[in-house]
Amino acid sequence: MNLMEVAKEAMNNSYSPYSNFRVGAALLTKSNKVYKGCNVENASYSPNCCAERTAFVKAISEGEKEFVAIAIYGGKDGKYDFCLPCGVCRQVMSEFCDKDFKIYVSNGKEIKCYTLGELLPNSFKLEKWLWFTIY
Ligand code: THU
Repeated sequence: MNLMEVAKEAMNNSYSPYSNFRVGAALLTKSNKVYKGCNVENASYSPNCCAERTAFVKAISEGEKEFVAIAIYGGKDGKYDFCLPCGVCRQVMSEFCDKDFKIYVSNGKEIKCYTLGELLPNSFKLEKWLWFTIY
């Protein structure tokens, strides 16, 4: 099973009764493990967690530190289009991944690949500010 197929499988567990927008993600680590995630919504809306962040939180909490790629698959009412990560998820990715981290999205027919550097250029990183504090 390739990474996009795992993302599709992960979508089966999507808890999205408010948006009916179902998303699955599959996160590949440098140690060659795959962590699945789905979106998990809430009646209060703001505690919503995207599929990508679910996968990252699962992986980080299991001790993973290095990541290669993520595949994302999602859509509404059985219509799947390229589901690009939201701004919050891009920021979470930038905390743990380099600019060459690969982000695969699919519409069910085609797969597109972006890098994190393309989707979140000039990102806010704490180490830059730590450097200013030290010197
Ligand atoms: N969502 C994701 O899980 N990942 C994305 O990349 C885009 C949006 C979720 C959040 C919410 O549960 C639903 O899709 C509609 O925005």
